[in-house]
Amino acid sequence: AEEYVPKERNGYLTSIAHRGASAYAPENTMPAFTKGVEMGADYIEIDVQMSKDSIPIIIHDRTLNRTTNGKGKVSDYTLKELKLLDAGSWFGEEFTGETIPTLNEFLGEFGGKINILIELKYPELYPGIEEQVANVLKEHKLVKPDSIEIIIQSFNHESIKRSKELLPEIPHGVLVGKDWRRISSQQLEEFATYADYFNPSFNIVTAELVELVHLTNMTMYAYTVRDQSEAGRLYSLGVDGIITDYPDYVNLIVQK
Ligand code: G3P
Ligand code: CA
Repeated sequence: AEEYVPKERNGYLTSIAHRGASAYAPENTMPAFTKGVEMGADYIEIDVQMSKDSIPIIIHDRTLNRTTNGKGKVSDYTLKELKLLDAGSWFGEEFTGETIPTLNEFLGEFGGKINILIELKYPELYPGIEEQVANVLKEHKLVKPDSIEIIIQSFNHESIKRSKELLPEIPHGVLVGKDWRRISSQQLEEFATYADYFNPSFNIVTAELVELVHLTNMTMYAYTVRDQSEAGRLYSLGVDGIITDYPDYVNLIVQK
């Protein structure tokens, strides 16, 4: 691909390590999170679902098939059963033995050390997930963190409304997919009644959209960047942050 030279822009570009630094270690595992911190990411993004016994755990897909040696739906297994699975070896032999982290374990290790972007993944499959996540955050005294930021986001906007009611002090975000071709100012204003972040697929980002989102006082983090020139394009368009498998790409654009 052609080398991208970003245009002059004053301002910071926030880097969010997507499922951890997932280009370099198995997504949503401790090594990927550690790598994200080491690479200087501003945030770690995690996908939260629940075990059959309602424990918040960190995994992206609805099923275990792609990222573990298990099979079937995540929601069919208790935490004890899930903990027996290997969530690392699919990515590389050296990661054999990594397990699916619980939200509790993750916060025990990283809570207070780095900003965190929590995605409620398929919350419609997990009634009560908003309360369970809120409880874990409370246990870790992270409901009103002073030195770091925690954001809760989801594609399921009803779930975000519910979570915002439970945790009004925590900033929330709406995720918007590439099927949302046209987004009116009216729609953005509605989002802004409960969300602080508007996080779209990078495919739909234009300078005009960035401007409209900023007019509603929401911040925009675009996902999922896996290409250096795309990172540069988004920076030029004025997005506030990028959610990326390669947090190092942001370091090449702005001096961190
Ligand atoms: O943080 C947003 C992004 O992660 C949404 O897509 O499928 O990677 O969870 P997905
Ligand atoms: Ca995600």
